[in-house]
Amino acid sequence: MTRVNVDVDPDDISSNTSGNRHIQDVLSRRSIIKGGTVVAAAGFMTAGLAEAAVAGPRDHKPGRPGQGRKLLGFKAVPAGKDDAIVVPEGYSAQVLIPWGTPLLSGGPAFKKDASNTAAEQERQIGAHHDGMHLFPLSKDSGLLAVNHEYVDTMGLYPDGDAVITKEKVSKALAAHGISVVKVQRDRRSGKWKQADSRFNRRVTGTTPVKFSGPVTADHAELRSNNSPQGTLNNCSSGYTPWGTYLTCEENWNGYFGTEDASWKADAEQKRYGVTASGFGYKWHQADERFDIAKNPKEANRFGWVVEIDPFAPNSKPVKRTTLGRFKHEGATVTESKGRVVVYSGDDQDGEYVYKFVGDGRWRDRIRHGQSPLDHGTLYVAKFSDDGSGVWLPLKFGEGPLTAAGGWKDQADVLLRTRTAADAVGATKLDRPEWVAVHPKNKDVFLTLTNGSGNGGAVGPRKPNPYGHILRWSEKNGDNTSLSFAWEVFVLSGDPAYDKTVKLDADSLHGSPDGIGFDEDGRLWIQTDISNSSQNLASKGYDNIGNNMLLACDPKTKEIRRFLVGPRGAEVTGLTFAADGRSLFVNIQHPGEDTKAWGTPTPENPRVVSNWPDFDPAGRPRSATVVITKDDGGKIGS
Ligand code: FEO
Ligand code: CA
Ligand code: CA
Repeated sequence: MTRVNVDVDPDDISSNTSGNRHIQDVLSRRSIIKGGTVVAAAGFMTAGLAEAAVAGPRDHKPGRPGQGRKLLGFKAVPAGKDDAIVVPEGYSAQVLIPWGTPLLSGGPAFKKDASNTAAEQERQIGAHHDGMHLFPLSKDSGLLAVNHEYVDTMGLYPDGDAVITKEKVSKALAAHGISVVKVQRDRRSGKWKQADSRFNRRVTGTTPVKFSGPVTADHAELRSNNSPQGTLNNCSSGYTPWGTYLTCEENWNGYFGTEDASWKADAEQKRYGVTASGFGYKWHQADERFDIAKNPKEANRFGWVVEIDPFAPNSKPVKRTTLGRFKHEGATVTESKGRVVVYSGDDQDGEYVYKFVGDGRWRDRIRHGQSPLDHGTLYVAKFSDDGSGVWLPLKFGEGPLTAAGGWKDQADVLLRTRTAADAVGATKLDRPEWVAVHPKNKDVFLTLTNGSGNGGAVGPRKPNPYGHILRWSEKNGDNTSLSFAWEVFVLSGDPAYDKTVKLDADSLHGSPDGIGFDEDGRLWIQTDISNSSQNLASKGYDNIGNNMLLACDPKTKEIRRFLVGPRGAEVTGLTFAADGRSLFVNIQHPGEDTKAWGTPTPENPRVVSNWPDFDPAGRPRSATVVITKDDGGKIGS
């Protein structure tokens, strides 16, 4: 997430002023704490009414390794504070495509003083790697699609960000978006390397884009002074069964601002957190595109899920408006009964979790030349304290979303998704981040990274500086169902500061964010402790140390730390080689301004970290890390 000012994590500030339920409204909370898990009473502990109405989660039965072998076979690494990547004994980690790497051999080389121009940055790997997916070409090669979430404006330029210029804005825009790059494994060394291919491309903040679904490019609310272009703050991602990449626009509001003292945010701008100062990027000072007073509709072109075909390098990215407009953390796709289902969290304190359910079979849509993401219904979740939950449709003409209720049409509902979700009575949550769907039993897992303790029983700690992970089972194990049974799967945190936490030295963690399954059913959990808390005793985060990656057996709930990242970085992005024997993760924003370590300056950008180059005249860089097991085995086994 965007951290221009280390003192304030903008996601932690709620802009949800709706009257929807949160802690103060909950009269009784019938959850019990048992073995590290807060269990909402009716959902799982009794075979009562809720059980009859909604199927509870079934035990996970991994096909492999199964047969009595444990899912987790590695020795946990300790929590740590080093400026390094630490992986378990018997594993190796390799750095791939750091920020600034030429996209093709012969492209502009990275300049360690950050003096590459905007035009050069357009032909290099972007900054701040986040969600990603490897589209296999073979067992030993694939196209890696990587999100570039934001930029550290201090580290992006030789002279820092005190003064902003048009060229600086252009360089920042060129460092955003996504990279598609071919990677392949060298048969002899076993190491992965970047390769030239006709698919290698950059999508940036200025790439021409299309809109599909009810909100069309010529919609009055999208009429801006410039052509439809760019994707920004590409946080997490997803991939579809038809082979495309979904990149998600999260904290887009932070790029807009104005110096016009007479400008006032309207109700919808307020609901989405658009302010005169933004997150401090100051782009509006040098580029009118981002001046919210002069070009107010440009912001409405962001907040969408964007589909990109990695195998069609000349195709325009498509903003799929049927999936709604909010601060999309990710877009996790699963299938049920031939229909496509997409889960997406809205990452801000007090926001909601959504799911899109496609109409009809996605294969039929593709056969008829239609997008399965253009036809379907968007729902938002309501969690009840008894461990049950329902999905509420955000459909014009239904419930409060009528003309009498002040709604124009479905496009209006989608442009104002947050307000529509307020109206139907969705449940506020503690910063909904990534969603993972169990590959076998289809249980759904959602990270709530931290927050004020929203939503009654679904937010068991108030406030909630460490976050937790929810699990739910959709009725009858069908992800298109409109009801579910939920539990708090794990309460994150440090027992030294919160006795209700049941984690030990091997599993200690806080602020879970990235989450995903491997094909054997291991649940991988990544953390994003804010740099305003990381390593600080005053925030109860000193024992937890740097951000990390953990593996979990979802059946036993055993969690083991697998990787610890360098200083000031978050660990994010998760994808596997086709054979499950190489794991790709991203190290984002190493060396960023971190309370515990200091504030980097243009003179010394290495105050917090100098990973991965450790060049005495260089600067920290986000990068992908590939992890392999020295014996060639499955990762985590
Ligand atoms: Fe981009 Fe919510 O992290
Ligand atoms: Ca994230
Ligand atoms: Ca986060």
